[in-house]
This record gives sequence, structure tokens and C-alpha cells, in this order.
Amino acid sequence: MAFHEMRVTYRNGELVEKVAGENPLELFLAWIGTARGSGAILEPNAMTLATVDDAGNPVARLVLLKELADDGAFVFYTNRHGRKGRDLAATPRAALVFWWEPLERQVRIEGDVTFTSDEDTAAYFATRPRESRIGAWASQQSEPIADRAALERQFAEADAAHPGEDIPVPPWWGGYRIVPDAMEFWQGRTGRMHDRLRYERDGARWERSRLQP
Ligand SMILES: Cc1cc2nc3c(=O)[nH]c(=O)nc-3n(C[C@H](O)[C@H](O)[C@H](O)COP(=O)(O)O)c2cc1C
Repeated sequence: MAFHEMRVTYRNGELVEKVAGENPLELFLAWIGTARGSGAILEPNAMTLATVDDAGNPVARLVLLKELADDGAFVFYTNRHGRKGRDLAATPRAALVFWWEPLERQVRIEGDVTFTSDEDTAAYFATRPRESRIGAWASQQSEPIADRAALERQFAEADAAHPGEDIPVPPWWGGYRIVPDAMEFWQGRTGRMHDRLRYERDGARWERSRLQP
């Protein structure tokens, strides 16, 4: 595969300070709204989540943004006993990356991480389809398993143990809130002269700067 021949010219847009404004959370909402409205992106709320493990190694995977809270926290849900849960227990810091290819836009976020409240977790869990709620009971996320059949058995057992619609939240399952202290907006431009605006939190204010591409 000739990766070096894979090249696109970004020509969709520009990111200027006047339009970007002073508040990165408002800009984020505008951008994800455009991404969703474009109809060209199946999961505009998919974000790469980077953590570090207890030996200092970076680890990344995709998760889904489920809420942007009033205090600006980016919220996702998972099994807190899996690999990312262990990482975040040791080092409660994370970075997020969104990539909306048809818009030629990237957003990067860095911040401290805390648990969602039990109330928020329960409220979100209740919105999940039944089979997703059963799946949360059936999977010891990030642990090895002998084969697919063994996984299917675990699902069937969890299903049988929780007949009906009333399924409690597994004790190991819940959300995380990433409160950004830095956010960067990237818009692809021609000649690799991309626009980059970085916002850093300064108390209640945001400090904005333009970075070279
Ligand atoms: C588009 C996409 C969205 C995903 N969303 C989630 C999610 O919201 N929560 C989750 O636990 N895993 C999600 N996953 C699976 C994770 O990428 C990952 O495989 C899993 O969480 C285990 O990661 P870990 O072993 O690092 O804990 C998603 C995967 C993809 C491809």
C-alpha cells in the first residue's frame, strides 16, 4: 500500500478568531452541530480517548460522547474495571480527539477526570436499549475470553438473571467526566497551512492563541 501517495488537499473552510469567539465550549457545540447536520458522519460524537497506564504508557481507544454537561464536562460511559478504568484510577487525566473528516476538522481536549454521579449513571443507563444493559452485565471488559461461544453464554446467563425491563446498573459500570482545561480547534487548509486555535482555561476565563500548523 503506497501510503505516501495518499494525499488530499483540504479546501473546505477557515477558522478565524472573529467567528471562533471567546468560548471553546460554544464553538465545540457549533462544530458538532455542523458535523451532525452534514448527514455525512455516522457517529459525530465518536471521540478518541487517550489515557496513560500506571507505567506511563499512552493508551487510546474510541468512545462515544454522551453528554456535554453544563459545567463543560465531556461525559462517556464504560466499564470502570476495564483497561481505561484502571488507567483513570491511577492517573485521572485524559485527552480526547474528534475528527470530522468531511468537514476537515479536528478538536483536541485535555482535562482532569472524575466519575459521574450514581444518579447520572443510573439515568443514562436507563436510556440504553435492553440488550446493551444486559451486555454491561455480560462482559468483563478488557479481560480475555476463550472464544465467541463463551461470550454468548455469558450474555445468555446475564439475560436469564435479569428477566424483564428492570435491570440495575452493574456495580462496575459508570461514567467519566472530563473537564477541559485546554481545547484546540483545527481546520484543514491548503498547503498544510491549517488554522489552529487553542484555548486554555484561566480560572473562569479562556485564553485563546493561534498555533502554527
Ligand atoms: C465508534 C466506537 C465507539 C465506542 N464507544 C464506546 C463507549 O462509549 N464506551 C466503551 O466502553 N467502549 C466503547 N467502544 C469500545 C472501545 O473502543 C474499547 O474497545 C473498549 O472500551 C475497551 O477499551 P479498554 O480496554 O481500553 O478499556 C467504542 C468503539 C468504537 C469503535
